[in-house]
Amino acid sequence: MEPRRILLAISGGIAAYKAPELVRTLRRAGHEVRCMLTPEAERFVSGLSLQAVSGESVRRDLFDAGEEGEIDHIGLADWAELVVVAPATANLLAKMAHGLADDLVTAVLLATRAPILVAPAMNVNMWSHPATQANLEILRARGISRIGPDAGELACGWEGLGRMSDPAVIAEAAANQLVPSSLAGPRVLVTAGGTAEPIDAVRSVTNRSSGKMGFAIAAEAAHRGAQVTLVAGITGLPTPHGVDRIDVSTALQMRDAVLASFDDSTIVVKAAAVADFRPVNTSDRKIKKEQMAEGESMTLELVQNPDILQEISAKKGERTVVGFAAESHEVVAAAQRKLARKGCDLIVANDISRTDAGFEVDENAVLFVWPNGEVEELPLLPKAGVAAQLFDRIEKLREGR
Ligand SMILES: Cc1cc2nc3c(=O)[nH]c(=O)nc-3n(C[C@H](O)[C@H](O)[C@H](O)COP(=O)(O)O)c2cc1C
Repeated sequence: MEPRRILLAISGGIAAYKAPELVRTLRRAGHEVRCMLTPEAERFVSGLSLQAVSGESVRRDLFDAGEEGEIDHIGLADWAELVVVAPATANLLAKMAHGLADDLVTAVLLATRAPILVAPAMNVNMWSHPATQANLEILRARGISRIGPDAGELACGWEGLGRMSDPAVIAEAAANQLVPSSLAGPRVLVTAGGTAEPIDAVRSVTNRSSGKMGFAIAAEAAHRGAQVTLVAGITGLPTPHGVDRIDVSTALQMRDAVLASFDDSTIVVKAAAVADFRPVNTSDRKIKKEQMAEGESMTLELVQNPDILQEISAKKGERTVVGFAAESHEVVAAAQRKLARKGCDLIVANDISRTDAGFEVDENAVLFVWPNGEVEELPLLPKAGVAAQLFDRIEKLREGR
């Protein structure tokens, strides 16, 4: 593997004594390693040992003019190609989950665009506490990777989950994070989620898209080193790490946001479920039922929204444009018609009549429908897996040009 720049963040747990061994293992694999410590970490491991094994000065203080002069905290955040947090205390995980930046480590973790791998270590009761588990869930949803903890005898005398993984195992997990930056350079534009077309001040016409597929695509593109803009419709999902997000709610707003980012984009993946129609008239007040007699019917007049995929496909030039099709029957034929009509490079089709895949769930079973008539059927995969398969195809397509 080519040498990479790894920043090791060490927080104040007993397992910090294993940090020098982790530095040595990463350096033996050829990587450049810099260390930063939380104020509590140095109670458990000496900065001098870390300096000796890393061959670099160790950073601890956000406000030390000397240290900050050497390389400022934003410089450190930008330098890293991967940040490994080992050990990650319960306290540090909580701060990360909630975006605190009150010391050097937390400020760098908030500023970096690099992928982050955490190796938690703590007492078993701290680990199983609902607060810690909720924080881990926030970090997981944000695309932060985790290795461990392992079960066993803990330094505090308890038995159970909480031991930091061995340095060799953490180094291996770090290597897996350091996939070649195959998309470093291209700007990737992704759309995700449904739109909501207002009827009145409280009601709208919307759909069941959760945004999970598009968010997984944005996370995968960022993971491969791309600069990613995610135009997100109606969704409660957290922004994947390293992704620039623009929130919109209607199809017209989504069109504006897509067109504003289109010129700078090399790859566009339109995974959003954009409403095909919007109400012709919208009331800025709530329509009161008292305005009508009981049983009286009401007609909602709809007008077609602009077709964003067709519009951008028509002027895509050298860009790669991928569209999604959610179909309830005759999936392949419908996707092929959509591909021909829109003129994009690939349609990812899913069968929304399946209950185990598609809307709202974490897995998807898709078909890649190509302009030459080829149809690839993928097995049921986690949405992150579908995203990885998609970018493998996009990269191959671009290499072949
Ligand atoms: C002897 C001792 C061992 C500790 N070990 C751990 C540990 O393994 N994991 C953990 O989450 N906290 C541990 N703590 C508590 C943390 O040190 C404490 O929460 C501290 O505020 C963490 O600061 P930091 O996250 O900024 O490094 C320990 C405390 C002491 C006194």
